[in-house]
Amino acid sequence: MKKTSFPWWQNKAAYQIYPKSFFDGSGDGIGDLPGVLSKLDYLKDLGVDILWLSPVYPSPMVDQGYDISDYYGVDPRFGTMEDLDALIQELKRREMYLVMDLVVSHCSDRHRWFQEAIRDPAGKYGQYFYLKPGRNGGPPNNWRAEFGGSCWDRLPGSDLYYFHTFAKEQPDLNWENPEVRREICDMVNWWLDKGVSGFRLDAIINLKKDLSFRDGPADSPDGTCAVSKMLPQTTEIGAFLNQLKQECFLPHDAFTVGEVYSITRERVSEFGGPEGYFSTLFDFAHFLADHRGVFWYQHKPFDFRSWRDAIFRSQENDSVFLANVLENHDRPRSPGIFLPEGDEGYEAVTAMAALSVLLRGIPFLYQGQEIGMRNGDFRTVEDFEDLNTHDQYRAARAAGLTEEEAMAVCRRHSRDNARTPMQWTGGGHAGFTTGTPWFPVNPNYRELNVEADAASARSVRGWYKRLLALRKDPEWEDALVRGGFRPAFREEAEIFAYWRTGEESGKRILVLCHYGRGTASVPFAEPFRVLMNNYDSLESREGRLRLDAYQVVVLACGAGEQEEV
Ligand code: NOJ
Repeated sequence: MKKTSFPWWQNKAAYQIYPKSFFDGSGDGIGDLPGVLSKLDYLKDLGVDILWLSPVYPSPMVDQGYDISDYYGVDPRFGTMEDLDALIQELKRREMYLVMDLVVSHCSDRHRWFQEAIRDPAGKYGQYFYLKPGRNGGPPNNWRAEFGGSCWDRLPGSDLYYFHTFAKEQPDLNWENPEVRREICDMVNWWLDKGVSGFRLDAIINLKKDLSFRDGPADSPDGTCAVSKMLPQTTEIGAFLNQLKQECFLPHDAFTVGEVYSITRERVSEFGGPEGYFSTLFDFAHFLADHRGVFWYQHKPFDFRSWRDAIFRSQENDSVFLANVLENHDRPRSPGIFLPEGDEGYEAVTAMAALSVLLRGIPFLYQGQEIGMRNGDFRTVEDFEDLNTHDQYRAARAAGLTEEEAMAVCRRHSRDNARTPMQWTGGGHAGFTTGTPWFPVNPNYRELNVEADAASARSVRGWYKRLLALRKDPEWEDALVRGGFRPAFREEAEIFAYWRTGEESGKRILVLCHYGRGTASVPFAEPFRVLMNNYDSLESREGRLRLDAYQVVVLACGAGEQEEV
């Protein structure tokens, strides 16, 4: 029999930590590295192997750490380099791995390189950024930044403009310059040599620009064009990403996961998989299923079939072992997006969990998802911290939405929904801090917290733990990790179901969910055994399986898998 070797990370499960909101070890109201360190056993027990740490580097925090002013340090808010070293060591001891956030499409305007570029735009560091003269007294072109406004701002003390895809405090690095690439590769290797196991690559598709810097077609009343519209013209990104792969990732056998929005299906295997630039990439296709325009107020309401079918389409492309996500720090909590209001109970949350974790690929959980945390409670626009939310609010108002309507849009879509502190206990500030939390705790913490969840017979975390364990169970690993994927009952209006089939073991698993209210039934005559069920029973009668509201079952199927139900 052919012996195939699999990458070390393939059967692992990952968990994203948003450090500012995870756990505060120092009592200053901000989550920190000692806080993360103190929760490693909690994470290990859940079944997590890989921790992705959102940025902890020194930063002015204009974009919550995604504006880095020193790639080689730790921001004092989060602790010290010794704390980070201790985290690496303690993870190793538990056979766990640390994945850092690599934010190299841009840095902070406080970074030394940018400060030097301001001091001497014609010197070495001027070449580290995109500096251009303006046009007719305004910016060089009409591109609109991701967080609003022009992509161009005046370089202080100069007539030149510098380019930024995101906020004006996040100048883009000029990857065309080999010296920039050298600096970044050296830095990446420094972290890998230190014992970090890999990276999540932030906004990596933005590394390459359309160097013509031509105007784009206006898509906003102010005549600007979303900067993302130039991405189809930037197909030459491969040289940059291959350099990272060849010089850094491959020699260290690193695990890398790309944050790649806006690529076509055909290009997925260029980015991820054995021939791709990265080990894997996040599957965001289902996040985008409700997108109609670039602004939140243009998004469509949740539609079950578009969501499910987007996942099916991604899964059917088996060239890449994708990273599957329901949540991250840039999205609202999953019950707030993928469920109709009023349906966010235990069954629905556990159904989503099973559907996501058992897909082909590596599951990524986001902190708090394991207890079913919900969207925050934001009354006025001032309650939002996130600069993106403020921009989307302005855009909605400018488009004529009332204050109430614009707030409803932001409540539904804001990234701050996922950034409220982690709810550990029903005590003060949800046990997140002994100080004053930097961001208010969700008022539902008294009922919804890790302690209460653990004490409940319907523990969401307990369900996640079982799912992660099942995926790794030697009996099912061949099917659930390496196995193929095939949609099932695709024509059924409220059924989300798929087969996972192991090539070597021949094991077949059906993940079957009624994603809706009331009941539904599907024809099913095969012998089966229930491995997991978010209800107490499963009704099988006259060749049909009858499922309750948001009931999900994981069935081992085929001859030899028989049980009385
Ligand atoms: C993607 C990150 O996930 C997001 O939080 C950030 O605002 C942008 N990239 C810019 O770094």
